[in-house]
Amino acid sequence: MTEKEVFNWLSQVEHPGKDDKDIVSLGMVEEVAVSEGKISVTLAFGKRPDPLKNYLEGAVRAAVYRNAPGGTEVEVKTVVKEAPKPKKPALDLNLDQVNEVAHIIGVASGKGGVGKSTVAVNLAIALARLGYRVGLADADVYGPSVPLMTATEGAVPEAEAGEEEGKELFLPIEKYGVKWMSIGYFAQPGQALIWRGPMACNALKQMILQVKWGPLDFLLIDMPPGTGDIHISLVNDIPMEGAVIVTTPQPVALADVEKGVDMFRNPSINRPIFGLVENMAWFTPEEHPEEKYFIFGKDGGAAMAERFGIDLLGQIPLVQSIREAGDSGEPVALGTRPDSLAFLELARKVADAVNKE
Ligand SMILES: Nc1ncnc2c1ncn2[C@@H]1O[C@H](COP(=O)(O)OP(=O)(O)OP(=O)(O)O)[C@@H](O)[C@H]1O
Ligand SMILES: [Mg+2]
Repeated sequence: MTEKEVFNWLSQVEHPGKDDKDIVSLGMVEEVAVSEGKISVTLAFGKRPDPLKNYLEGAVRAAVYRNAPGGTEVEVKTVVKEAPKPKKPALDLNLDQVNEVAHIIGVASGKGGVGKSTVAVNLAIALARLGYRVGLADADVYGPSVPLMTATEGAVPEAEAGEEEGKELFLPIEKYGVKWMSIGYFAQPGQALIWRGPMACNALKQMILQVKWGPLDFLLIDMPPGTGDIHISLVNDIPMEGAVIVTTPQPVALADVEKGVDMFRNPSINRPIFGLVENMAWFTPEEHPEEKYFIFGKDGGAAMAERFGIDLLGQIPLVQSIREAGDSGEPVALGTRPDSLAFLELARKVADAVNKE
């Protein structure tokens, strides 16, 4: 009696819950031990309760009794073991497409809704107005904002055959002097994007690494809200040089901003933070552009910047036209209003901070 023989007997035991595949090829036979007058079989079950566990134990016992010489003692043990995860095909992404990008900068915040996308889109346009070659990748796979904010909804990125066979590259959408890419261009308007976990992560990397950016001075990444695994994997897998953190002045934003700052300072990531942008720093009524109302508190951004030891790069007021411009797809940074100039000023500061590093 050899272990191999026992494996052969066990390969006759089928799992009725798994298309009648046999338990050996399902990888459920963890161990077979044969000794004088005794056979011991260890079956492995996944974490999820298997309703056929008792049945299978009985079937294994029966299969061994049937084949082994009379009088052999049979023992069936079970262990709980996570089934090995099926390997997913690796996405064939490499860094070729960002080789000609001088600076890849994340626009991040620990907090949602503080105006990351508004700042990222306007900053991109302002940098382009200063003469830089700029691209922006919208890394918010759950709620892409770039198509709406630039009125490029419905645009379809052209695909071009890559150098390697079977590989395609997408051309970014060019408008306002900036090259834009967003997962929104690949979905029907209003269609829910239900990617989760690794799939979302891959879709996201494709938005950056499978795009023919060409030579750029700045590639901004509009990061999704939060500081989860997806962010860490993004920063790690893409040569992101550092980040600009967006906040609003309220003290309640502090804890979230701290998470955002910690993410980049975490030893496994360790990228510089070029500075803080205080969005909605004060409210200015459209008709009284000289007035400032500090509805979320005054100097909150400066206090945060000091606390985290980073520079305050700019303050953007809360103005109705910034929201309207975002919604209508003509960002304020295109114009000459006071808030347009705030973005130009910010762009100058960001460029200086990055070039200084
Ligand atoms: N300075 C501002 N003045 C007026 N409205 C603003 C300003 N900044 C942002 N908004 C508006 O606030 C809303 C949220 O902004 P935005 O989408 O840029 O935030 P976000 O941080 O990217 O959000 P999310 O976390 O969902 O990605 C938008 O409607 C935007 O137009
Ligand atoms: Mg956003």
